[in-house]
Amino acid sequence: MNSQHILIIDDEENMRHMLSVMLSRQGYRVELAANGGQGLDCLKNNAYDYILCDIRMPEMDGKTFLQQAMEEHVTTPVIMMSAYGTVETAIECMKLGAYDFISKPFKRDEIVMVLKKAEERERLKEENSHLREVVAGRFSYSGILSRNSGMQEIFNQIKKVADLKTTILVLGESGTGKELVARAVHLNGRRSQKPFVAVNCGAIPENLLESELFGHVRGAFTDASSDKEGLFEQADGGTLFLDEIGETPLALQVKLLRVLQEGEIRRVGDAASKKVDVRVISATSRDLAADVGTGCFREDLYFRLNVFCLQLPPLRERVEDIPLLAEHFMSRHGSGSDCQVLRLEPDAMRSLMAYRWPGNVRELENVIERACILSEGGRITSSSLPSPVRLLDESCPDESENDENLSIKKAEDAIERDLIRKALVKTGGNRTRAAKILEISHRSLLYKLKEYDIE
Ligand SMILES: Nc1ncnc2c1ncn2[C@@H]1O[C@H](COP(=O)(O)OP(=O)(O)OP(=O)(O)O)[C@@H](O)[C@H]1O
Ligand SMILES: [Mg+2]
Repeated sequence: MNSQHILIIDDEENMRHMLSVMLSRQGYRVELAANGGQGLDCLKNNAYDYILCDIRMPEMDGKTFLQQAMEEHVTTPVIMMSAYGTVETAIECMKLGAYDFISKPFKRDEIVMVLKKAEERERLKEENSHLREVVAGRFSYSGILSRNSGMQEIFNQIKKVADLKTTILVLGESGTGKELVARAVHLNGRRSQKPFVAVNCGAIPENLLESELFGHVRGAFTDASSDKEGLFEQADGGTLFLDEIGETPLALQVKLLRVLQEGEIRRVGDAASKKVDVRVISATSRDLAADVGTGCFREDLYFRLNVFCLQLPPLRERVEDIPLLAEHFMSRHGSGSDCQVLRLEPDAMRSLMAYRWPGNVRELENVIERACILSEGGRITSSSLPSPVRLLDESCPDESENDENLSIKKAEDAIERDLIRKALVKTGGNRTRAAKILEISHRSLLYKLKEYDIE
């Protein structure tokens, strides 16, 4: 039996009576209010599964009720009932976060249908959020989300080296998550209780970098009015993250190499040196090997830093992560929006999947954050996306005019085909292992190979 609790807000006595009788018969527990104000009072003392609310009412109308309920962060789905002449208001209410609306006069079945539909949607929502949790658990490591096999391999490598003192070099384009990876190494190793100190070697003026890293003693130079501890000492026992290592001036590269080899630092102006126990992780978006070739980076330091290398793939090479990350950033940035549930419409998703993301995950995060602000009624459409992302299709008009390009099915097929190819390349054509990576059965892989005509 249905024991869902419904609040009905309507100023017309007949309407309240009719709905009450009908819905009680359907097994709902019904409560009645004659205007928005009474409705709000009911909300103070009770939790409801659904609210049915008329729009035109004296004292407090439906829209005002909805606005106030939203301000109070009421999450109960509100279904507006609009009579002749209030349909526009009903649409405004949808934008404000109403769940649905039904036009008066309605037949008995209609209202039940709307409620069943809402129930179904709620159930799916719950299922989705559960699914989301499962996915997040399975496809995340220390806050790094990815379902890409290359990234999963990186998670494994992090687990293996985290506890060691091995020097690590993290490579990857800007915004691929290098700092996140460095932190994950630190947090999962036995140094996690000690400091993680990050320094951007490209952001500190050359003349200050040495004293920043190694510290200085009083009087070492004009401004040195007292002794100062450097970042190596601050990170003692923990991890020092040298970001943008490729920007380190050559003169300092020599000193850095010595510190790494000897495990001792010497403050600027100090005669004595001091032991430090620091794990060094460095990162760069430059092609460091090429810099070695052109003499901009010392080869000996390069080898010293590059004992263990983690190369992060750019986002465009792991498109399967885009929906996962988009969802993640929506839940992170969507909480400020006026709707509880944000939804990415298929057109928006298509644009996100097709874009090349030169700024990688950071750029995606910024785009989603902006889209959350621009979203209306909880929907993110492609018009909430910045033009470079959105206009991708329009830049090749011949294609976009074709209906085929609007097909989600086709786009999904294309992605699926691509993933299968990649899995086969990665496993050297081993179908059993490819099926494992793809997380589908061997049988369905064979079926898909045939369907997509892949050798
Ligand atoms: N796989 C991921 N899962 C979740 N968040 C991510 C992921 N990758 C990156 N991010 C987020 O994207 C942003 C950029 O990541 P991060 O700063 O680690 O990149 P980076 O490679 O160091 O960039 P840059 O080269 O510009 O310094 C951060 O907000 C980070 O939390
Ligand atoms: Mg960074």
